[in-house]
Amino acid sequence: MREKIEQLRKKIEEFRAETPQQLEEFRVRISGKKGELTEIFEDFKNVASEQKKEFGKLLNEIKNLMQETLKSQKELFDSLETGKSIADKTLPAFAGSLGSRHPISLAKNEILEIFTRLGFTVAEGPEIEDDWHVFSALNFPPNHPARDMQDTFFIEQNPDILLRTHTSSIQVRTMERQKPPIRVVCPGRVFRNEAISARAHCIFHQVEGLYIDKNVSFADMKQTLLYFAREMFGENTEIRLRPSFFPFTEPSAEMDVSCKICGGKGCNICKYTGWLEVLGCGIVDPNVLDACGIDSREYTGFAFGMGVERLSMLKWQVKDLRLYFENDVRFLEQFQSVI
Ligand code: DAH
Repeated sequence: MREKIEQLRKKIEEFRAETPQQLEEFRVRISGKKGELTEIFEDFKNVASEQKKEFGKLLNEIKNLMQETLKSQKELFDSLETGKSIADKTLPAFAGSLGSRHPISLAKNEILEIFTRLGFTVAEGPEIEDDWHVFSALNFPPNHPARDMQDTFFIEQNPDILLRTHTSSIQVRTMERQKPPIRVVCPGRVFRNEAISARAHCIFHQVEGLYIDKNVSFADMKQTLLYFAREMFGENTEIRLRPSFFPFTEPSAEMDVSCKICGGKGCNICKYTGWLEVLGCGIVDPNVLDACGIDSREYTGFAFGMGVERLSMLKWQVKDLRLYFENDVRFLEQFQSVI
């Protein structure tokens, strides 16, 4: 009997419930009707009378131990539930963890803010688009190889309904709706049939910009984009424009910013060139203006488009695009301090 009591004492002392259910199961197993402790109390009736005093004392101790164990562990669960600790008042308070904005939202908001300061308004458009708004109105001729620049997802084999490959479709919708002067920035998700890697994804975000008025020139575009680059990447940032091709602009250019990591000296981020490519831009092709009901003899304009992931990667030196989509809190938490 002594041995049974000692074994039970050990069992009770070592018990730690992880859930209130486990605690209740333990109570039934030990002090329930057929519990181990109850059984020992039954055996106690048969103990010789000269041993009754000794065993009685041991049994009482164990009964108290059991009661204490049940009480303290129940209190712990209750305190976790109500959020206040009864068991140990010196424990630190439960700190609600603070969320943070996603780096894509942070970069997008910053881009939009910079342009709204210049008088641009924000416009959005549908993700499921038609051929006209994504290609034809933007001066992509039918079957022209330029359409291959962007591998398109079509909806149900219908060549007319597709997921937009760029936010330039919102330019078209804006011009169709609005008379110049037009100054808009258009954020949104875009879709391209590309293999997922550290540098490419089939879903990503762009911000498109469009400015149309009388006498808008290439110099206006350059100055606007210089302002943007300095607001986004720091006041000493330099830009350079390289000739490029887009069906919807003529002339077209790609803009690089001076690498702020090495200050233009050359590092592995800028591939030792001192420059980082950030956006495409150009003077809106007259065909696009005419297709959207704006008289190209009267108005000119410039447009630009940039990848939000890319800008965010450059700004915060994120090395792998896939991190943006995994939603790993260890990554996201690092943006808590960015407003
Ligand atoms: N739509 C282009 C792309 O997705 C980006 C772009 C380049 C937009 C030049 C423009 C522009 O408006 O003028 O690659």
